[in-house]
Amino acid sequence: MLVRLMYASRASGAIDQDTLAAILKKSKAHNPTVGVTGALMLCPASGVFLQVLEGGRAAVNTLYNRIVADTRHRDVVLLSYEEIDERRFAVWSMGQVNMQRLNPALLLKYSETATLDPYAVSAKASMALFDELVATASIVGQG
Ligand SMILES: Cc1cc2nc3c(=O)[nH]c(=O)nc-3n(C[C@H](O)[C@H](O)[C@H](O)COP(=O)(O)O)c2cc1C
Repeated sequence: MLVRLMYASRASGAIDQDTLAAILKKSKAHNPTVGVTGALMLCPASGVFLQVLEGGRAAVNTLYNRIVADTRHRDVVLLSYEEIDERRFAVWSMGQVNMQRLNPALLLKYSETATLDPYAVSAKASMALFDELVATASIVGQG
């Protein structure tokens, strides 16, 4: 039984590249051991995280609870939780959205300004953004 979960949060302080790298390193080491895949996006302009986790229901729920307790971010809001037939992020244990390569027009397509603000738009819009990021090869990070 597979589920897909998406949440948004705000970085507690300024998240530097080392902190982000540490989060991704941990994710890439841990997620394959529990069969979780997904993608993580951090908007430098707004300090907002958007993450998708998919995998077995128990594995996703356990990991989400662990992530929520992480003090490196706050204001964690569950945007979407659904049972799925197949994964969309199967090739990434935790893919990273390359914000440098991201066309601002893609952010504008789904929101009022060209910054990531999942708090202001529908979960459907944030998921559509992720779908486009997958389609436009804007997600990096092997395995
Ligand atoms: C925005 C964000 C996303 C995270 N995503 C993951 C993840 O996908 N997988 C993971 O294992 N840890 C992730 N973490 C780290 C966990 O919150 C937590 O620090 C880690 O799993 C704890 O591991 P430890 O108890 O072995 O130190 C994330 C943290 C943050 C702030």
